[in-house]
Amino acid sequence: MTGRVAGRVALVTGASSGLGKRFAQVLAAEGAKVVVAARRKQRLDDLVNEIGGNAFAVQCDVTNEAQVIDMFDAAEQKFGLVDTVVNNAGMTHANNAVTQDIAEFRRIMDLNVTSVWCVAREAARRLIHAGPEKSAHGRIVNIASMAGRIVIPGVSAYNTSKAACAHLTRSLAREWARYGINVNALSPGYVATELTEEWLNGEGGAKTIGKSPRRRVMDAESLDEALLFLCSDNAKFVTGTDVLVDDAQSMG
Ligand SMILES: NC(=O)c1ccc[n+]([C@@H]2O[C@H](COP(=O)([O-])OP(=O)(O)OC[C@H]3O[C@@H](n4cnc5c(N)ncnc54)[C@H](OP(=O)(O)O)[C@@H]3O)[C@@H](O)[C@H]2O)c1
Repeated sequence: MTGRVAGRVALVTGASSGLGKRFAQVLAAEGAKVVVAARRKQRLDDLVNEIGGNAFAVQCDVTNEAQVIDMFDAAEQKFGLVDTVVNNAGMTHANNAVTQDIAEFRRIMDLNVTSVWCVAREAARRLIHAGPEKSAHGRIVNIASMAGRIVIPGVSAYNTSKAACAHLTRSLAREWARYGINVNALSPGYVATELTEEWLNGEGGAKTIGKSPRRRVMDAESLDEALLFLCSDNAKFVTGTDVLVDDAQSMG
């Protein structure tokens, strides 16, 4: 490990499982102080114990604006200004549009789009308030999906939310460019996590992966390098992009 994000204070949402947990581990291993957030506090505490002194857990439902503000207050009190955000919390659904109720569609949009905006906005407000020297190091990475670029059958709300997440990323990148805050999206293909495992292990998943060019699911580690780059000072000139790391799955 070479300390590529040393000195940074990174906030990772949805860190109680899957990709978020991995992102927190990787950022900590590369020198960042890491604030891990989600609703399941025990899981966060276990992760903090595993990472050690450079991690701090905050219970937060990111769809709740007041809790988001409290989360940033708590993070700042513990480690100082948050300059790196991984907006990772997200959910999918199992219903086709015709069997879906409007409440579920709204839940997906609320978490996958509105909360991404809310967390990014809170980070940017504080960075801008702290002045140009601080804001110039701002890095926001929104975890979108290849589903924002292709149509994955049967998950129209999810596909739509991830396309919106990518365009929100570009819009915020434009707004905050003059402050030096870089906003990028990272769009994974299929990785086995609690979100995808059941489907990947079923008939639908086997069929989809069987038709993908490399006929495989990605490893948890497959996103490490792209994430670290986007969070690092090396990405100074990179903003408003959507980095696709999908092992060619979207071309299947
Ligand atoms: N796995 C894949 O193949 C894949 C592919 C492309 C994109 N993605 C994206 O990657 C991100 C992470 O997915 P994953 O596969 O790691 O799924 P996961 O294991 O189900 O993790 C989702 C995380 O989001 C958190 N979360 C859900 N609702 C929340 C809320 N209201 N407030 C705060 N945290 C909340 C969950 O924690 P709590 O329940 O403890 O709150 C959990 O830690 C998602 O945005 C997903 O769309 C995943």
